Amino acid sequence: MQTLLRQVDEDSLALAARLIRAGELVAFPTETVYGLGGNALDEAAVLKIFAAKDRPADNPLIVHLYDIAQADALCRFTGAAEKLARVFWPGPLTMLLEKHKSVPAVVTAGLNTLALRLPSHAGAQRFLRRCGLPVAAPSANRSGKPSPTSARHVWDDLQGRIPLILDGGDCEVGLESTVLDLSGERPVILRPGAVTREQIISVLGACDLAPSIMRPLREGEDARSPGMRHRHYAPKARLSLVQGEPEQVAHTIRQLYDSQPKACILAMHGHLPEYGQRAVLDLGQDAAEAAHRLFGLLRQCDALGVEQIYCECLPREGMGLAVMNRLARAAEFDIIQAVV
Ligand code: TXA
Ligand code: MG
Repeated sequence: MQTLLRQVDEDSLALAARLIRAGELVAFPTETVYGLGGNALDEAAVLKIFAAKDRPADNPLIVHLYDIAQADALCRFTGAAEKLARVFWPGPLTMLLEKHKSVPAVVTAGLNTLALRLPSHAGAQRFLRRCGLPVAAPSANRSGKPSPTSARHVWDDLQGRIPLILDGGDCEVGLESTVLDLSGERPVILRPGAVTREQIISVLGACDLAPSIMRPLREGEDARSPGMRHRHYAPKARLSLVQGEPEQVAHTIRQLYDSQPKACILAMHGHLPEYGQRAVLDLGQDAAEAAHRLFGLLRQCDALGVEQIYCECLPREGMGLAVMNRLARAAEFDIIQAVV
C-alpha cells in the first residue's frame, strides 16, 4: 500500500474523512503523541488498526471524540466524568467508563469499560470533526516501540501499512495521556500523564495510583490496564536507569559508560558538563521538557546504533512520574542505585 504524508489542510482533511468513513486508517497528530485512527463503530476498521501495528488483540483502544455530547451514546458518562471533562477536556486525559453495547467488543478487547478522550490539538479536532464519528486510536507506532511524537516517526513505523499520515508538527506533550479508571469505587490512575494525580484530586477529592506504575506486574496480578502487561516504549538498545544523589548518579554513569563501547547517556540539561566528551543527549531543563523529548531521543539512539543507554532518573512527581513510568518500562525495570 502506498502511504501519503500530508500537512493538515482542507484537502488532506477531506481525504482523511473519506478514508475513515470508508473503513480505512489515518494517522493524525494530537497534543500527546500521534494516533492511528479508524471508525470505532466499524469492527473491520478496528481490526485493521491491530494488524497495522502488530498489536496484541488483548490490548484495548482509546476512542477519540470532538464533542462531549458524543459520550452518552458510547458509555455511562458519570457525574465524576462530567466534572473532570469540564476541567481537563479538551486535553491529555483518558477516562475509563462503563461501555454501552453500541461499541464493538474488539475496541475494548472484550472489557466492559471504554477509554474515552477529547484531544486539544487543533489538527486532531479538525480531523475528528470532519470524520463526524468516534475514532478508535492507539499510538501510531509499531507495537512495543516508543510512541511517535512526529509525523516522521509514524512514517518510519507504518509506511506501506496505512494510506494516510496527517502531519501536524511535533507533539507538544510528547507522552501519552493520563489513563484514569472511573469504573470502580475510587478513581485510579493506570497510566500517568500530563494531567497529574494532584490535579485530579483537586477536582474529585481523591485519586489513587495503580501500584504497577513503577514496578513490574506480579505473577497472577490483575493488570487493570492490559497495556501494562506488554513490553513498551522500548528502543533497540538496552536501557538502564541510574537513581540517587545527582553527583553520585553522574559518577556511576561515567564509570558504566567508560566500560561499554557503544553507549549513550541521557541527562538533564544542567548535568551535561558532568559527562565531558562522552556521547550524551539532552533531556532538557525540567520534567515537561524531558517528556517532550524522550521518545524522539530513544528513536535517535536506535538510529545511531547505540547498544546501551544510561539515563538519569527524575523525581517521581508531576510530569516526572509519567517520564519515569515510561523509562522504567522501556528499561524493563533495570534501575541501578548510584554509589560512590
Ligand atoms: O495520548 C494518548 O492516549 C494516545 C493518543 C493517540 O490519544 N493514545 C494512546 O493509545 O496512547 P494506546 O493504545 O497506545 O494506549 C492506551 C492505553 C493502553 O495501555 C491500554 O491498555 C489502555 O490505555 N486502555 C485502553 N482501554 C482500556 C480499558 N478499557 N481498560 C483498561 N485499559 C485500557
Ligand atoms: Mg501505545
